[in-house]
Amino acid sequence: MSSTVPTGASSAVLKPSDPVPDEAVSVVGPNFDEPITLDKLMESFTRIGFQANSLGRAIDIVNKMRKWRLSDEPLTEDEPEEYRDPEVRAQTRCNIFLGYTSNLISSGLREVVLHLVKHKHVRAIVTTAGGIEEDFIKCLGKTYLADFNLDGADLRRKGMNRIGNLIVPNDNYCKFEDWMMPILDTMLAEQKESGQVWSPSSFIRRLGKEINNEESVYYWAYKNDIPVFCPALTDGSLGDMIYFHSFRNPGLIVDIVQDIRALNELSRRSKKAGMIILGGGVCKHQIANAMLIRNGADYSVYINTGQEFDGSDSGARPDEAVSWGKIRAGSESVKVYADATLVFPLLVAATFAKDKQ
Ligand SMILES: NC(=O)c1ccc[n+]([C@@H]2O[C@H](COP(=O)([O-])OP(=O)(O)OC[C@H]3O[C@@H](n4cnc5c(N)ncnc54)[C@H](O)[C@@H]3O)[C@@H](O)[C@H]2O)c1
Repeated sequence: MSSTVPTGASSAVLKPSDPVPDEAVSVVGPNFDEPITLDKLMESFTRIGFQANSLGRAIDIVNKMRKWRLSDEPLTEDEPEEYRDPEVRAQTRCNIFLGYTSNLISSGLREVVLHLVKHKHVRAIVTTAGGIEEDFIKCLGKTYLADFNLDGADLRRKGMNRIGNLIVPNDNYCKFEDWMMPILDTMLAEQKESGQVWSPSSFIRRLGKEINNEESVYYWAYKNDIPVFCPALTDGSLGDMIYFHSFRNPGLIVDIVQDIRALNELSRRSKKAGMIILGGGVCKHQIANAMLIRNGADYSVYINTGQEFDGSDSGARPDEAVSWGKIRAGSESVKVYADATLVFPLLVAATFAKDKQ
């Protein structure tokens, strides 16, 4: 038997590397042998790799959105008069557009969103119908922790509705109807009297005023004048209510044209614009589409579980939006592939919530 290592095999296995660039960062995880603060733990994510890295990058991008001021930029010759005053420049911030799917308001992320809205950290919101009604419904009755594996037919018999591993008793929707109907009557009367039709955002603002409850995201949006856009306002219990109401007391008009104009104008007028989008579908695309009006977002953070192989917009990476002009080429963007319920509380803890520390 030969005792020499075959040269072909050794040169294949022991192939020398090119020199590693000086700026290369090595992989290292957190050290739990020493006491570790939440801040230090989150900092360590940037060197763990995989999605931990992407979360670290998302934290960095969100902190940049928060820090930016127009005074950081040189004054250009074509700057309009209103933006020439140094004080105005120092106060002009990046407008943050927050989007989320309905299920996240059903989950405990509702309270995380509430924090952002209560403390005016975001400039506008886009969500879907469930993301509106579930907030108000939670003011009228509770949503409960349960199990993904509960039997659908059994739940239906018991009048219990399942959202993933959460349960909403159907009674909550009955209470929602009792609350909504007189408000819809009043809104219709006001529309007839003034000739002014509603838009999804003015409709939501009104409900935020009516609920008058500090536990509601949209109460704070109303208080802080943060517009909430919901282009598909009817795709949920709100649609059921509007449908019933259209028989009992017809004539309510909700105009989506006013809102697309308001959202796109807000984007166009933003000196800097950032997107934070949790999940996909309408909430993701409606914000990205508004960014097109200003030739793309300056900062973009996506957190979602969607995959791109099926060509879905939900799963599209930021680079696809660059091709459409919805994200500026060369701007800072990241997609974190994760359930937002795991990642978003950490992101907020490491960014917006630090204001209070
Ligand atoms: N509670 C509810 O979920 C609820 C209630 C009433 C009505 N609806 C209606 O259902 C329709 C569809 O809902 P939708 O458009 O809000 O989103 P969706 O639930 O269809 O989700 C869209 C995509 O977002 C991503 N996503 C969803 N949850 C995520 C999470 N936890 N973490 C990361 N990524 C996630 C996934 O890729 C998913 O395919 C809407 O019209 C909505 O109004 C939903």
